[in-house]
Amino acid sequence: MDYIYEIKKLKKEKNAVILAHCYQNIEIDEIADFIGDSLYLSQMASKTAADLIIFAGVYFMAQTAKILNPAKKVILPNIKAGCAMADMINLKQLREFKQKHPNLPTVCYINSTAEVKSECDICCTSSNAVEIVKSLNATEVLFLPDKNLGRWVEKQLGNVKVTTYSGYCPIHEKFDPTGIQKTKNKYPKAILLAHPECPEAFVDLADYTGSTTGIMNFVKNSTEKQFIVATEKGVLDRLKRDYPDKQFYDIYDKPSICQSMKLNTIMDVYYALKNETPEIEVDKTIAQKAFNCINRMLEVSK
Ligand code: 13P
Ligand code: SF4
Repeated sequence: MDYIYEIKKLKKEKNAVILAHCYQNIEIDEIADFIGDSLYLSQMASKTAADLIIFAGVYFMAQTAKILNPAKKVILPNIKAGCAMADMINLKQLREFKQKHPNLPTVCYINSTAEVKSECDICCTSSNAVEIVKSLNATEVLFLPDKNLGRWVEKQLGNVKVTTYSGYCPIHEKFDPTGIQKTKNKYPKAILLAHPECPEAFVDLADYTGSTTGIMNFVKNSTEKQFIVATEKGVLDRLKRDYPDKQFYDIYDKPSICQSMKLNTIMDVYYALKNETPEIEVDKTIAQKAFNCINRMLEVSK
């Protein structure tokens, strides 16, 4: 079966939209309406006029789209696509963290569950984390689950104490300053681009740090020809496709892959559209509170 043809046909028939994160298998781009980072995709999810939303990403992303569109059907093509970082903090752990550091504004990375978002003040993504924390006008904030993104925000702002939870992304956590030296020696002219989920000591060595879209925009606007890219393979795949005249290198010999992000296949997307399942549901009370947390972020980052 020509899945791509069938998906495009079903999309029209059902007034569906396909949102895809840039860590997805690259062939997903052929059928996606919007491709980008977590902020862009949540903005698109909040504005869509489609009746059916297919989210080619991981669970928290589809859950966020559902919270923003309670009356619409939101489908995650492969229901097993989770996020190890989002699973590092649950409601009980969040409450303990807040009790240990009382009366502070609580900022949660969008890579968190709906339950966790429901008890946080505002949400952020890697592309607006600095802007969001700044918007609170606070001298100290709690930040979760990502310790690395929190530390990076603190350094960027310089005048806000960011008390972080101990979570991390297992893919980015592996990038270590010792490992990069070998790659830098191999490609001395290459610019090092890093995602802020990388450890602090690694980010300190980067020429540019930003979200997945931030990294792709940096390459687009740069006259440089060689780049070492410290994030998931999906970004490298797209950069290699879009800029054939430039060279892109992984940090290590083996590419860094988020297996969870790769679970959604073209075939899964086809069946998701055809059968309108697996559908994402969120408890109404949790969803209402989580909506406030996400919407506050969207109000700041318009
Ligand atoms: P961004 O695309 O927002 O940079 O997020 C990266 C990520 O790890 C998503 O899970
Ligand atoms: Fe989660 Fe990391 Fe995978 Fe993103 S790359 S979905 S943060 S485990």
